[in-house]
Amino acid sequence: MPHSSLDYGNLPGHVAVIMDGNGRWARSHGLPRLQGHSNGVQSVDKITRTAVELGIDILTLYAFSSENWKRPQEEVSGLMQLLKKYLESELATMNENNIRLHVIGDVNRLPADVQDAISHCLLETSGNEGLILNLALNYGGRDEIVRALRNLAKLCNLNRCTPQELNEDVVARNLDTSGLPDPDLIIRTGGERRLSNFLLWQASYSELYFTETNWPDFNREDFISALIDYQKRQRRFGRTGEQSVELADSEGNRKAK
Ligand code: FPP
Repeated sequence: MPHSSLDYGNLPGHVAVIMDGNGRWARSHGLPRLQGHSNGVQSVDKITRTAVELGIDILTLYAFSSENWKRPQEEVSGLMQLLKKYLESELATMNENNIRLHVIGDVNRLPADVQDAISHCLLETSGNEGLILNLALNYGGRDEIVRALRNLAKLCNLNRCTPQELNEDVVARNLDTSGLPDPDLIIRTGGERRLSNFLLWQASYSELYFTETNWPDFNREDFISALIDYQKRQRRFGRTGEQSVELADSEGNRKAK
């Protein structure tokens, strides 16, 4: 259903979400932490459906960080099982909704059965041209940059590039997000106000939105509220406010022609 306060011509192309607060949600309901993650999967479904409905291009979800291995073994294996179950059970829905799965992070360290489920889903959705659902799995922004640097150092060693040729575009092309635009909007649920090693390179000019709502309670209306808040921001990318208005006007005119 169209939302009256939303400007459909000014939606962020790429929205990324730090899905925080599952544990606190569970505790406040007297439930085990894993139940919080399990309910979090329902929010993943709701927000993905809303992103499809609105025609957002890319939805990136921070599902497991490179630091999350430090959690109790039972929670880590529970999260891995949830992930595998999600990929298996959602594949049909992804195809029905023209969703293409993408992953970022060092997936080689995930359990073999989870890697198999990811590979299967990547292959089966590879022809879809709607929403890109980008899952960050065993993802850390610093780890991603180190892996990119190692790769570039190796190429330089093999004389396939020179240090002088390295620039921002080359680095970006060697990150896990290669080929994807930077996020326009990063939402963090659960009340904390930090990036927690998420998309450190890519977030340079992202708009940030923080909400107290825990992820399992985050729904379509909350997502739309974040988008409406985003639409009130002026994105300047280092320019002055006046220059940004002129640029937006000239782009508006170009689109109108
Ligand atoms: C942070 O909440 C959340 C996580 C570390 C995991 C997020 C995982 C899911 C929502 C489910 C699996 C994902 C997919 C895509 C199927 P927290 O546990 O740190 O919460 P707390 O700060 O309240 O303890």
